[in-house]
Amino acid sequence: MRGLFGTRPWRAPDDPCCVVAVQNFKGGVGKSTLSVHLAQYLAIQGYRVALIDCDSQASATTLFGYVPDLDLSEEDTLYPFLREEEMTSLDYALRKTHFDGLELIPANLRLFQSEYEIAARMARGQGGLIDRLSEGIASISDRFDVIVLDPPPALGAISLSVLRAANALVVPVPPTVMDFSSTAAFLAMLDETIETLAERGFAPTLRFLRFVASKVDENKSMQKELLNLMRTLFGQAMVRTPLKDSAEIDNATARLMTVYELDGPVTSSAVRNRCLTYLDGVNAELELDIRAMWPSHLSRLRKEGLA
Ligand SMILES: Nc1ncnc2c1ncn2[C@@H]1O[C@H](COP(=O)(O)OP(=O)(O)O)[C@@H](O)[C@H]1O
Ligand SMILES: [Mg+2]
Repeated sequence: MRGLFGTRPWRAPDDPCCVVAVQNFKGGVGKSTLSVHLAQYLAIQGYRVALIDCDSQASATTLFGYVPDLDLSEEDTLYPFLREEEMTSLDYALRKTHFDGLELIPANLRLFQSEYEIAARMARGQGGLIDRLSEGIASISDRFDVIVLDPPPALGAISLSVLRAANALVVPVPPTVMDFSSTAAFLAMLDETIETLAERGFAPTLRFLRFVASKVDENKSMQKELLNLMRTLFGQAMVRTPLKDSAEIDNATARLMTVYELDGPVTSSAVRNRCLTYLDGVNAELELDIRAMWPSHLSRLRKEGLA
C-alpha cells in the first residue's frame, strides 16, 4: 500500500545510506537482539534495510530461523568477499528474508577463519584490508536506506572493519557493574582505536553515537542506580527508553524468532505488550537519529519539531 500511495519513507538518492553498527566489545549485552529487532522494525516502517551478520557465532542469522552451520556454507557469508580481492560486490551474499524490504547477509562459524586471515595479511602490510568491508558495503548501499551491522564481541580485525565501515554507532549497555565497567573499557578502546585509525588516515566519521540501556531489570536497586548514573554520564547520547529484560525476548529467541514476528504472546499479552512498547520506543528514537542524517528528511523533522 505504501508503494501504491507513494508514502514510502525512503531516503532521497543523494542522502547518505545509514550504516549503523550495534557495537560493544562485550558479549551477551544484547547486540544481536537489538540489531535484528532494529532491522525488522525499520523494514516494518517501510525502509529498505540490509542486516549484515559479521559475527561467526551467527546469533542474528539464527534469529532468522537458520541453523548456521547446517543450512549455510562459507560461500553464503562475508567470507568470500573478504578473502578474494577480485570480488567487486557483496550482492552474492544478500538474501531475501520473510520481512518485506529486509535482506540478510548471514554468518556461520567459517567466518571466524577470516579473522586470522585479515590479521595475518594486515601484519604483512596490507593495511587497506581494514577497508574491505566498507568497500563491500559501498557496492550495495545504493539499494538500501539503512544497513545494520552486527559485529563479533571482540576487538579483532572484523570489529575494526565494522567500526571503519559504520557512519553511526549504537552501544547497548546492561546496567550491571560488570557490563558498565567493560563498556567504559570499550569506550577507552574505541577512543584509542579511532585515534590510531585517524593517524593512518582511516578515521571513521560517525554521524551519531547512542547508548541503549539493555536487559534492564528495574526491580534490582543496583541497576536503577547504574541506569541513573548512565543517564547522567551519557546525557543526550542515551536513548531515553530502556530496553528492559523481558521473558518475551528470551522465549522468542528460544524459537529462533523475534518478538516482532511472533503473532501472539509466548508469555502473556501484558508481558508481550510491555516488551513491544520498549522495543518500539528504542527503535523509534533510533529511527529519528537515522532520519536526521538525511537532508531530505531533516527539514520535515524540523517542521514537526522532532529535530
Ligand atoms: N531485553 C532482553 N530481555 C531478555 N533477554 C535478552 C534481552 N536482550 C538480550 N537478551 C538475551 O541475552 C542473550 C544475549 O543477547 P545477544 O543479543 O545475543 O547479545 P550479544 O549479541 O551482545 O552477544 C540472548 O539469549 C538474548 O535472548
Ligand atoms: Mg551477538
